[in-house]
Amino acid sequence: MAPSLNSTLEANGNSNDGKSPDVNWEEMGFSLTPTDYMYVMKCSIGDNFSQGSLIPFGNIELSPCSGILNYGQGLFEGLKAYRKEDGRILLFRPEQNALRMKAGAERLCMPSPSIEQFVDAVKQAVLANERWVPPFGKGSMYVRPLLMGSGASLGLGPAPEYTFLVYVSPVGSYHKGQRSLNLVVEEKQHRASPGGTGGIKTVANYSPVLDALTRAKAQGFSEVLFLDATTGKYIDEGSACNIFSVKGNSISTPPTHGTILPGITRKSIIEIARKLGYQVEERPVALDELLDADEVFCTGTAVVVTSIGSVTHQGRRVEYKTQADTVCQKLRETLTGIQMGGLEDTMGWMV
Ligand code: COI
Repeated sequence: MAPSLNSTLEANGNSNDGKSPDVNWEEMGFSLTPTDYMYVMKCSIGDNFSQGSLIPFGNIELSPCSGILNYGQGLFEGLKAYRKEDGRILLFRPEQNALRMKAGAERLCMPSPSIEQFVDAVKQAVLANERWVPPFGKGSMYVRPLLMGSGASLGLGPAPEYTFLVYVSPVGSYHKGQRSLNLVVEEKQHRASPGGTGGIKTVANYSPVLDALTRAKAQGFSEVLFLDATTGKYIDEGSACNIFSVKGNSISTPPTHGTILPGITRKSIIEIARKLGYQVEERPVALDELLDADEVFCTGTAVVVTSIGSVTHQGRRVEYKTQADTVCQKLRETLTGIQMGGLEDTMGWMV
């Protein structure tokens, strides 16, 4: 049974009286805080998405035989809404998420919302939950659009019905309490292979990294660094982020030729770095080159732009510069300045 608005809100420990929710904004990490509403829109195969609506945030009903549960026919997106100092709310490049979802949907034989429908749904979900957007400078609202085969499909094939859903949660830092990350190179498993789905944001790319990530965390590392599946000599990406290597004035990151997720933060950082005068190359980056870099950092909607303090490979730990005056810090300050409204948005990214 669909939850009633009251039962959802009682479960949240907050009543929707328009007041500020009972959240300690200072202590937030990256975990779900249930909010008031989510946006849902459905369509049948062969049709286009047309009309969606806001409903109370809560569990959804799915056939045990749905395409998402049986065959992983699903995509997700991640973007953030920020509160400016004057109280207004900004979204960062939401049309880029819409375009990436469209590309993923084509790969997984799913219909997708139009760019306008996607952005409108995101705006509706954020505005309906406005009271959950953290105050200026205290984190952000993470927006999670999902697209899934929700209809039943026992034989392997595209599901007959699709659901597009947007839910939101206020969040703080993804790696709370860690100013820089310690990575370990994964040697047994790979995240993606040529011709596979590493270049789209399918849900099926994320459970296969859990084993390596769990082993890494058990050894005290913050993240895993995956290598290319063909030669094992080049870096791929982390379990939840793209990787950049810095040497002098030159910044390198692997190209998005199928195994690398085309991160929107990745793309934005490349554009910012070029504007700031760095030489940026999208090309295969050998692990040996990374181990010899001056600086390494990672990017992603959740992690933003975070310094890598060390990479450990076959027991050898290489440390990098992470203090003030790093390239990472300059790029992060520029990006977050634009996102939070402190710097002029000369790129026209904010909505
Ligand atoms: C994001 O950065 O938005 C992601 O989707 C990564 C996720 C594993 C948290």
